[in-house]
Amino acid sequence: MNSNQIYSPYDHLIDQIGRMFQSLTKYKSNTPLQPEFSPEPAGTKIHLPAPIRDLDRTLFDTIDMRRSVRQFSPEPLSAKELSTMLWATQGVTFSDERYEFRATPSAGGLYPVKTYLVTFNVSNIEQGVASYDEKDHSLRWLRSGDFRKVLCDATIKQKMILESAAVFIWAADMNRSIWRYAQRAYRYIYLDAGHMAQNTALAATALRLGSCAIGAFYDDALDDLLMLDGTQQTAIYLTVIGHIRKNE
Ligand SMILES: Cc1cc2nc3c(=O)[nH]c(=O)nc-3n(C[C@H](O)[C@H](O)[C@H](O)COP(=O)(O)O)c2cc1C
Repeated sequence: MNSNQIYSPYDHLIDQIGRMFQSLTKYKSNTPLQPEFSPEPAGTKIHLPAPIRDLDRTLFDTIDMRRSVRQFSPEPLSAKELSTMLWATQGVTFSDERYEFRATPSAGGLYPVKTYLVTFNVSNIEQGVASYDEKDHSLRWLRSGDFRKVLCDATIKQKMILESAAVFIWAADMNRSIWRYAQRAYRYIYLDAGHMAQNTALAATALRLGSCAIGAFYDDALDDLLMLDGTQQTAIYLTVIGHIRKNE
């Protein structure tokens, strides 16, 4: 990475920013503000098939066997496999009249991190960008097209993107957490995303698929792909998914 790529107007603060962040987000106030939610993105809905529930790998075998996979075969992901991965990441697992809880925990039950999906090679699902709507386990179609090269460039040319079948991108809706936790929300959002990514990785292993988390990317490029403003809503983490390529 050259110096142009990491330049920002705040470079003079870079040696202090971590300590300042940790210090300034220490708990000092518990005065809640008003909730402020962004609306759901507009787009055509596609309902997903029911997730696969009868997997034969035990939890402990799954934990033991999870590994970051960066080489994928051309075999497409099935819609059922995709559905299972999305459900494990963020599916609704309990609801009553007042609350709705999901497969992964979230600070305050606020769920500020949304799952976006970029499809390259999924049976019976076109290539494009969608957002996951956990309420009815559906996809909301946002853009059509082959975004492999765009996403490869956006992840600082990580070639695994080109072979993968789909990519989950997690984007934070900051105010969904800030109204309650003020600047401390910036800690919780990343912790939430970590929980989600781990469930994604374990679900992939349980399904005998491969996945790899990606934290290295050009923020603006990902936000442009998802049509997010980069401030109130911004991409924070991603995971590539596909069938594992067996090396001869
Ligand atoms: C926050 C985070 C960011 C990561 N970013 C990348 C990445 O940009 N590219 C990559 O190839 N792997 C990335 N990884 C995967 C790690 O390299 C991998 O987890 C580590 O080498 C341990 O190997 P394992 O996952 O097989 O146990 C990331 C993992 C985490 C948790």
